[in-house]
Amino acid sequence: MEPNRRLWLKKIGIGVAGIGLTSFNSFASPLASENLINSFENDANLIFLRSNENPYGPSPLARKAFAENVNISNRYNWDIEAQIISAIALKNSVKDENILLGAGSTEILDLVAKFVSLDKGNYVIADPSYDYWTVTLDNFGLTKNKVPLTADKKINLKAMVEAVNQNTKLVYICNPNNPTGTICKREALVEFVTNISQNTIVLIDETYLDFTKQQSLSNIVTDHKNIIIAKTFSKMYGLAGARIGYAIADKTLIDNLSNLQSNTNNSVSVLSKLAAIASLKDEKFVSNCYLLNENVRQYTISELKKLNCECITSNTNFIYFSLVKYNKDYFKQLEDNNIEGGRIYEEQGKWTRITVGKMDEMKKFIKAIQ
Ligand SMILES: Cc1ncc(COP(=O)(O)O)c(C=O)c1O
Repeated sequence: MEPNRRLWLKKIGIGVAGIGLTSFNSFASPLASENLINSFENDANLIFLRSNENPYGPSPLARKAFAENVNISNRYNWDIEAQIISAIALKNSVKDENILLGAGSTEILDLVAKFVSLDKGNYVIADPSYDYWTVTLDNFGLTKNKVPLTADKKINLKAMVEAVNQNTKLVYICNPNNPTGTICKREALVEFVTNISQNTIVLIDETYLDFTKQQSLSNIVTDHKNIIIAKTFSKMYGLAGARIGYAIADKTLIDNLSNLQSNTNNSVSVLSKLAAIASLKDEKFVSNCYLLNENVRQYTISELKKLNCECITSNTNFIYFSLVKYNKDYFKQLEDNNIEGGRIYEEQGKWTRITVGKMDEMKKFIKAIQ
């Protein structure tokens, strides 16, 4: 767990045991679970714009699935594993054998890290990018090779290819990139993958691709047997706390990763699997969230620009912007207004990131920093 998440739990005065008890009583009906979420946020009196969660989720169908299935949590229910894998495979136009479930995409990234570390070497990652998980690679003895972004904060695919050598075990591309929100076009990525040796694993993290209209790279995994795509239900599907994500890859690679998972596909609870199945059916929720995010993001960017903050074009549910010309103590303003809102990613240019919350939350955020 990130230290700031731990801090947040402490701040709202609730321990893990406390959450468990409240949830058990409140999951009796979908309505009650909605109340749980609202009261949880109100009690905390915090605006949480740090971790790119979906402020509207879980979807109504997912809440219903949680509420209706709590009583079957006493059983392992192995058959539900096959149902969720088929639903995911269908959504991504691949076969069931191309899917591996994990407790969030974090577990998938971790399994990939362990797999590539079986053989020492180096890994290539853009800088800044999503790198909390790379501590496993470092601990297992791989050398980190950081490739700076372009001046406009995009992943420099050309420089990434050039950084790969015969000892490179892994190249990680976060697309769209966290924290910058920039995107590599699909065609550019296909070309990139073609230029990388088959001996190097290419991990494409599509955690935020649902916030764009761009098609996933899922349909190239059978032709490119060294590609792994990581996806999650944590963001667009609003299930961050339910911990469910997955990998898409060629069967051999999926088998290799699953060998490192002691209970293959079952680090995810039955309830989370059922909520994920329901979420995939809730297309209305997803399209609403997509539009709300675009609208609130546009508002936030235009207000940030009025405060002299340069913003990078975002393809995600967060915004990367510069505090160089902002003339107050940004982080103090956030703290004084009970807003959890990130950190500096690049000292030069004082670049920071803010999650796109609900409109009223973003209005409070803008008011707090005005
Ligand atoms: C780029 C990226 N990848 C992976 C994750 C992990 O997400 P989860 O484990 O909740 O699926 C995150 C979470 O913020 C992320 O931003």
